[in-house]
Amino acid sequence: MKGVLICGGIGSRLKPLTEITNKSLLPVYDRPLIHHPLDVLRAAGITEIAVITGNEHMDQIAAYLGSGSKFGCAFAFKVQERAGGIAQALGLAQEFVDGDDVCAILGDNVYFDDLAPAIRSFKKGGHVFLKKVPDPERFGVAQMREGKILSIEEKPKKPKSDLAVTGCYVYDHRCFEVIRTMKPSARGELEITDVSRWYLERGELTATILKDEWIDAGTFESLHRAAVVVRERKDKRDR
Ligand code: DAU
Repeated sequence: MKGVLICGGIGSRLKPLTEITNKSLLPVYDRPLIHHPLDVLRAAGITEIAVITGNEHMDQIAAYLGSGSKFGCAFAFKVQERAGGIAQALGLAQEFVDGDDVCAILGDNVYFDDLAPAIRSFKKGGHVFLKKVPDPERFGVAQMREGKILSIEEKPKKPKSDLAVTGCYVYDHRCFEVIRTMKPSARGELEITDVSRWYLERGELTATILKDEWIDAGTFESLHRAAVVVRERKDKRDR
């Protein structure tokens, strides 16, 4: 399985912090944000990773990550010229993934669960990670019954559940064909939720419900919260 770290976009909600640097290089207590999704991939044994960024801050990301040798990985860098959606960003990795399965993860998502068992045991179709949240309308939302996903919607005004679809997606190679034929949504983006829905419609989308905290660190509050939780966990371990 190959990995894709999705770090494009302009980080508009974090301006002025993202004025001259990429969101994923911002500090979360003792390390840049990007280490968190990168660690998810590494923990799952994924070492061949495509890093997608916008052209504004490509140089900083490449300078920070390097070839990957210091992380025990091999990185390939791809530029997303315009923020045309998470699915579009993933589509840029098609050649790199080369028919393999893929685990795509957003550069601003911080997980405290261990995702590795679910990623490692992936066989076919699509797999997503869900988390119960108080404000589901801010996210992709999945409705479940008896362990099965019934629906998946991007930022619905009236969410059918409180289960957010978090930013880690495991798909088989067919996702790239799906992305190639997709049309932009009303907000002009190729939506990752539409890729997951394609698998859902074929009965091939499965999910893990996370137990521990999960943070989309894309706002001041959540970026700060991520730093606080990382520090608390570290202090507890060091005690
Ligand atoms: O964090 C989980 C949520 O991420 C999901 O629940 C949603 O279904 C999914 O659409 C996404 O929502 P966000 O509103 O958080 O997406 P955002 O535009 O903030 O982008 C998330 C990351 O993806 C961010 O680090 C930048 C990157 N990105 C985004 C876009 C739109 C790209 O690399 N390219 C893009 O074109």
